[in-house]
Amino acid sequence: MTMTDTMTDPQPAAGGPLAPAALDAAVAEALAALAAAADLADLAAVRTAQVDGRSAPLMLARQKLGTVAPENRADTGKRVNEALGAVRDAHTARLAELTAERDARVLVEERVDVTMPATRRRPGARHPLALLSDRLVDTFVAMGYEVAEGPEVEHDWFNFEALNFEPDHPARSEHDTLFVEPEGSGRLLRTHTSPVQIRALLSRPLPVYVVAPGRTYRNDTVDATHSPVFGQLECLAVDEGITMADLRGTLDVFAAALFGSGLNTRLRPHYFPFTEPSAELDVQCFNCRGEAAHQPCRVCSDEGWIEAGGCGMVDPNVLRAAGVDPTRYSGFAFGMGLERAAMMRHGVREIRDFVEGDVRFSLPFGIEG
Ligand code: DAH
Repeated sequence: MTMTDTMTDPQPAAGGPLAPAALDAAVAEALAALAAAADLADLAAVRTAQVDGRSAPLMLARQKLGTVAPENRADTGKRVNEALGAVRDAHTARLAELTAERDARVLVEERVDVTMPATRRRPGARHPLALLSDRLVDTFVAMGYEVAEGPEVEHDWFNFEALNFEPDHPARSEHDTLFVEPEGSGRLLRTHTSPVQIRALLSRPLPVYVVAPGRTYRNDTVDATHSPVFGQLECLAVDEGITMADLRGTLDVFAAALFGSGLNTRLRPHYFPFTEPSAELDVQCFNCRGEAAHQPCRVCSDEGWIEAGGCGMVDPNVLRAAGVDPTRYSGFAFGMGLERAAMMRHGVREIRDFVEGDVRFSLPFGIEG
């Protein structure tokens, strides 16, 4: 602290911060700094240093007003205020200039050229097999069924043994099984979704009502209607007092979901190891409505009927293998191939179209959820 800081000057000290020349110099310095500020961040720093920061020269000068002799205070105060006003005005003007510059620059830098070619991604489409599977699963879920799943690499016991396929039964070889190494591991690629019946019965409390869609595999050579990988959908109901009438009613609902309502269904006797009796389900052709005898029909090859899957009453041996008492419980099962049904429904000639993944094939089926 110096003496002049504490004493009252009769006149602002010639060399002090309140002297007219000092004030003019402070204003000049502030104006130069404001003019030199290159952008808004710079300007904010200059504002603190020169305009209203605690150590801005003019703010320091104003603090010194108290040291001026009372008779000179008004004059000196006026000059300090004018100097501050000039600097504040200059700051306001520079702020407006730099803000306008910034806005103009942002407009250029962030410009969107609406004439540029767009890189738009087409939304794609859900696979027609997924759509069909979901549609059928929804139908069963609406009847109170739960969705069940099983592994695609399955054990022989689930795929064959527990489903009542005798070890040397010819039905095993009809499945053209793909086995998984090492030999003798008992592992294979499941040849159907029926092993999920066993898994569902073993893992759920009775009664069991499940629908199981999934991928299955067989050692088939690819041609227009065969593929080594294909989809199936299985349904199983095990409860007290289930009869074939329940199976028929359920199949009618399924047939309507698959091909449309009002079509007749029929059961043709067949053999499956895991059902007794067993049958194949035929649905009246949705195209000719069974009139094929009178007019040629492309869809059913003049059969009047379309094969839609296998079914039957669950064999007591299967219930026993899954730990279910066949004297108390009975059930029905049903299984179908998804590709074949989709080909019929949509007039698809080549099963390969389902595996190639070309969106031009999938799009016409719609992009529904
Ligand atoms: N799993 C059989 C197959 O792939 C289809 C089948 C037939 C499933 C009868 C069933 C059924 O549930 O009861 O050929």
